[in-house]
Parts: sequence; C-alpha cells; structure tokens
Amino acid sequence: AVDHRACGHGKIILLGEHAVVYGSHAVAAPVPLAVRAVAQDTKSGGVDMFIPRWGVEYRLHRDPAHRDSFQRSLGIIFDELQLTDRSMRIEVFPNVPRAMGLGGSAAMAVAVIRALDQHYKLALSDEEINALAFRCEEIAHGSASGIDNTVATYGKPLLYKRAGKKGEAPMVRELHLPKRIPLVIGISGKESLTAVTVGKVRTAWQRNPALYDGIFQQIDSLTLQGVEAMQQYDLERLGDLMNICHGLLNALRVSSWEVEELVQIAREHGALGAKLTGGGGGGSIVALCPQNREKVAAAIRDAGYQAMEVDIG
Ligand code: MEV
Repeated sequence: AVDHRACGHGKIILLGEHAVVYGSHAVAAPVPLAVRAVAQDTKSGGVDMFIPRWGVEYRLHRDPAHRDSFQRSLGIIFDELQLTDRSMRIEVFPNVPRAMGLGGSAAMAVAVIRALDQHYKLALSDEEINALAFRCEEIAHGSASGIDNTVATYGKPLLYKRAGKKGEAPMVRELHLPKRIPLVIGISGKESLTAVTVGKVRTAWQRNPALYDGIFQQIDSLTLQGVEAMQQYDLERLGDLMNICHGLLNALRVSSWEVEELVQIAREHGALGAKLTGGGGGGSIVALCPQNREKVAAAIRDAGYQAMEVDIG
C-alpha cells in the first residue's frame, strides 16, 4: 500500500538567525525530525484538522475573519488551493517539538500542503509548496525571512539570504560539506514563539537602527566565514564563530536563563561552540561536538533537559 503521509522537515539554524530577517545570510540544516500529515475524504461537510499529539481538533472556519491565529496560519493553505469548501479530514503527526526553535510551524505547513497535493493530485512543484508555506510563516512569525519553510521543503543544508524586495526570489545555495558535522541539540523545554522574539528585536532595531544594523552586519560576516569553515571542515573555527554568534544574539536579548545554562553545560563538557538556535527566548541550543558528544548530551540530560545527537550534511 502507498503511504500517503507527506512530510515537512524540522531544522536547526547554525549561524545567522534574527539577522536573516534584516537581509543577512544564515546557514540552516534539516534535522531528523519531521512533521507528517495525511488527508482523507469525509462526509462531514467541512475541513477538520486533528493533531492528536497536541490535543488539537478543530473545524476550519470558512470565513478567514473568524479564524484564530493558529487557524489563520494554516487556513491560508486551503484558501489558496481553493479547498476550503471540501469535506475532509487532515491528521497531523508532529515529531518536531512545538515552539522549541526547531522549525515546527514551517514543517507543519509543508506537511499539510504536501498531504493536500498528494490527495487532490495538484502536482505542485517544490517552489510552489515553499512559496505557500512562506505565506503561513509570515502569519505565524510576523516578519519571517523564509529560511524555515525553505529547509522544511527541501530538507538540505543551505546558505540563505532573503530577497532585497518583496516579490523577488531569495538567494538559496545548497551546502555540500566534505564530512558530516556532529552536533548536539539541547532542548530547554521552555516554549517560545518566534513571533514574540522577532517582534522584540524589531522594536529594539526601530529605536536604534544604526546600532542594530551593525550587529546584523557582524552576524552576516561571521556566517559567511562559517560557511568557509564548514567547507574546509575547520571545526575549531566554526565553533569560535558559533560562540561569537551566541554573544551577538545575547546582545539582541533573545536568550533566556535556560538557554544560557545549556550553552554553559555544552561548553564546559567539551563542545567547540554552542549557541541558541532559531527564535530563542527559550527553545533550543546547538552545540558543535566532534569529540565528547556523548558527554555533552549526558550532561544536558543530567541537568534535566532533553538532548539529541544529530549529524548535518
Ligand atoms: C527562526 O527559526 C529564525 C528567525 O531568524 C526568524 C526568521 O528567519 O523568520 C528568528
């Protein structure tokens, strides 16, 4: 039997989050966590959404004005694909933890679009899937750069820079790494909405654009150096750049008590570099661990957090 479950990838950002919203480069990679979704016909007379793991269950409101923010973000998919009047059930199986900076919202949008694409034989291209997931992200994040939906769609490590003008295509370059890069993801368990941290950074930037643009430029430059370090497999240098990037993200005040503890634990147990990943304000960290990977993961777990060992590339 054919499995019609469609998938969207979760992600980590290795360098460049937040600054990427303002036009800097960022590096991201998929993680072996995905959201899956499946669409089925029903006779219920509406679009019913089920996310059993989260206890979410709702009938999509036909009128966008009556949708809450969660319904608005995914609802745009049904409007755009002109499926709002269908009678169907969408079931979603999220293996990306919610609001942990690992791209769960983008992965969910991509999974739902792909499930509809398969079920209704829409023959959407990856570009169309990505563009529609970006619309969902704009609603979910406020001002999304588009990096999360791009990794969720293509599932490859990439260098990303958003378009200068609305309507133009972003710069997306797949990164071919000489060898896999061993990481530990530390999950704080503190949920944080990217829309909130992105909004905080925007308010601070509006008060002092010159100062913040300077920080974004530094993040841009260290991200490009990080790409070189990755391609030369110079992990010492990559680790330094991750540490500096975390310092700059701290300057943007998107860290949290838990994130700082995780970063310190990782560094003390031998990580070459450790930083928050994604939106921050809680969520997750990523630590570069060519040696001592198990030790770092164990120390994170001993402190009461979750740890995942992943390779990218
Ligand atoms: C979130 O994963 C990454 C941010 O840079 C927001 C975005 O790029 O849309 C914080």
